[in-house]
Amino acid sequence: MLHLKEIEIMSSLHLGDIAPNFTADSTVGKIDFHQWLGDSWGILFSHPADYTPVCTTELGAVAKYKVEFEQRNVKVAALSVDDIDSHKAWVKDINETQHTTVDFPIFDDADRNIATLYDMIHPNADDKMTVRSLFIIAPDKKIKLMITYPASTGRNFVEILRVIDSLQLTADYKVATPADWKPGEDCVILPAIKNEEIPALFPKGYTEIKPYLRMTPQPGKN
Ligand code: BEZ
Repeated sequence: MLHLKEIEIMSSLHLGDIAPNFTADSTVGKIDFHQWLGDSWGILFSHPADYTPVCTTELGAVAKYKVEFEQRNVKVAALSVDDIDSHKAWVKDINETQHTTVDFPIFDDADRNIATLYDMIHPNADDKMTVRSLFIIAPDKKIKLMITYPASTGRNFVEILRVIDSLQLTADYKVATPADWKPGEDCVILPAIKNEEIPALFPKGYTEIKPYLRMTPQPGKN
């Protein structure tokens, strides 16, 4: 039988939790994670190890989307369970092979402290390397999204940008985004909103497909 303390140790992070803070060395110097995030949105994502092929393409892809992240007020930071010297040498390879410049921080996590804090090592997948975890953190430091991919599958960063657009929209307006939504497309009005509240909240109007399925043009967009 598990005791409370063991359950606490095993428990992982959930949406809405405060992203754990840490101080760590990185490829751009020492960082206090919460201080570094400031008022920005943040992405923290893990890589199984340095000098691995899929990770090389992922870090290159993120570097190429630098402007997209900046336009959305999102800071990105990566980690793998290797040290700074290894990260810095690997970044040269990434820049060369992916034709880009990685200038976002990659944390030193040779001691696996951050990976453990964020439950990024899944022993039944691998007991040393991290899986591909990704956390999106809002300016209030709460975790808004978590995804976990295995080492064998690289992430789709176009999807991550789409998710950020949805998270930022739904933080500001009383809508949700339907399946396969893309910016500019119609949104779902939250079920808690009464029909009589709609004109004030959604002056562009709405379509009632079913009483529980009401669509409105994306708010805040001309
Ligand atoms: C990779 O990043 O390429 C990778 C890492 C571990 C296992 C498989 C692929």
